[in-house]
Amino acid sequence: MDITFLLNGETVELEGVSPTATLLDWLREERHLRGTKEGCNEGDCGACTVMVSDAEGAKALNSCILFLPQLHGKAIRTVEGVGEADGTLHPVQDAMIEHHGSQCGFCTPGFIMSMTASHANGATDHDTQLAGNLCRCTGYAPIIRAAEACKDKPVPTWVNNDRAFVLLEASEVATDGPAHAPTSSDELAEVYASNPDATIIAGATDVGLWVTKQLRDLASVIFLNRCDDLKTVEVTDTQVRFGAMVDMNTVGDTLSDLHPSYAEMVRRYASVQVRHAATIGGNIANGSPIGDNPPALIALGATLHLRKGDTRRDLLLEDFFIDYGKQDRQPGEFVDAVSFPRQPDTLKCYKLSKRFDQDISAVCGCFNITVADGVVADARIAFGGMAGIPKRATTVEAALIGHPWTATTIATAKTKFDADFTPLTDMRASAEYRLETARTLLERYFAESQGQTTNVLEVSA
Ligand SMILES: Cc1cc2nc3c(=O)[nH]c(=O)nc-3n(C[C@H](O)[C@H](O)[C@H](O)COP(=O)(O)OP(=O)(O)OC[C@H]3O[C@@H](n4cnc5c(N)ncnc54)[C@H](O)[C@@H]3O)c2cc1C
Ligand code: FES
Ligand code: FES
Repeated sequence: MDITFLLNGETVELEGVSPTATLLDWLREERHLRGTKEGCNEGDCGACTVMVSDAEGAKALNSCILFLPQLHGKAIRTVEGVGEADGTLHPVQDAMIEHHGSQCGFCTPGFIMSMTASHANGATDHDTQLAGNLCRCTGYAPIIRAAEACKDKPVPTWVNNDRAFVLLEASEVATDGPAHAPTSSDELAEVYASNPDATIIAGATDVGLWVTKQLRDLASVIFLNRCDDLKTVEVTDTQVRFGAMVDMNTVGDTLSDLHPSYAEMVRRYASVQVRHAATIGGNIANGSPIGDNPPALIALGATLHLRKGDTRRDLLLEDFFIDYGKQDRQPGEFVDAVSFPRQPDTLKCYKLSKRFDQDISAVCGCFNITVADGVVADARIAFGGMAGIPKRATTVEAALIGHPWTATTIATAKTKFDADFTPLTDMRASAEYRLETARTLLERYFAESQGQTTNVLEVSA
């Protein structure tokens, strides 16, 4: 593939790029820019963080799971490029020195790049912004102090220059046989219908690991990142609809007022870097039993919109997941969008993971229960991590609907989880833990409905 991008202010044109070459490998091995570090090579540590500017703004991204073609027409900054040409440091670099934010220094370039992107965007929720950067020796307090100290310092002029490149750059990416980069869903539909064996690459936060960890050779690929019409969000009086390529940070921002518990779950979904890349369509299409969107969307009564060539079909999201690793999707058919009805907010999403931030769920329980005149009028409860697919707790729901919303009803409904789920024991949790926490989460939902505080983040001494 032939691509063009801006790297630290300099235009780079590459011909014959391998579609699955990662930005990290290219930076370190081809450009000898070794400030960008390789820690985990799977999106978990943030040592490889770079800043990428595109039409949507400046984003911190993990370069280890970014394929070069995803960067066509964008502006990349590495740690070598954040200071001025005359040697003046970026304000975050100055602040990290002043506040002793670095010891061994291995994580430091990644922190600098996350902080540079936050600084460019005026983001001051430093805990969230830096949750994807791991430091094993300095400790986070000096780093957070540094981020806080420089927040009002002026943004360097190169930030706007990078944006200007992005806005000017609209050239076509040149593709060859096995690699495709359609620019609309119509074009995608045509290309995928003729190449049903190709691997779709959306944000590459799953597919990236197939390459970096499983060393898989992806014979034929279709990049979706240039299909702007798949990035649309529609919020009307009757529905919320996300195009398949809407990234997880946008999902969280969109839902912060409509369904704040969903948005709070998204805040703990991976890290800022991963959420900038990860898409809602990829999280559904991968069919993972521990993906966080499906249980929340099923609890909201979501519909999945699929397309193959000119044929479109809709199905309830819960019916998409047939069995472990098996979804109701035909060769050449792709996820176009997902939508759910506008409704009063009674949704609570509980994400349980071994680590609070940036960890895959052991159990994700989503409860959407409507109570009218003291009686349960409707209940939609769905779980991730409790079966081979994201799954509704229909027996538990039946034990609630039509019954008074009382502790007695909850106690009865809690005994029904065994009828809905036979969870597995794996490295994230035992079967017993999963079943017990599922029961307890129903009790938690009830306690919250009675005005009790249950979230550890909301408890104060
Ligand atoms: C460090 C890290 C932390 C993570 N934490 C979480 C977490 O907390 N919660 C969670 O749920 N997930 C998590 N994930 C998993 C991953 O980020 C999500 O599943 C993500 O939403 C996948 O989206 P993507 O766009 O990156 O998909 P990709 O990797 O591009 O694709 C995933 C799969 O879906 C297919 N696909 C993608 N889009 C479409 C489409 N429109 N139509 C048909 N097929 C398609 C691809 O071919 C591939 O099979 C994490 C991943 C990493 C690396
Ligand atoms: S090397 Fe760890 S996130 Fe990329
Ligand atoms: S300074 Fe050593 S890992 Fe952060």
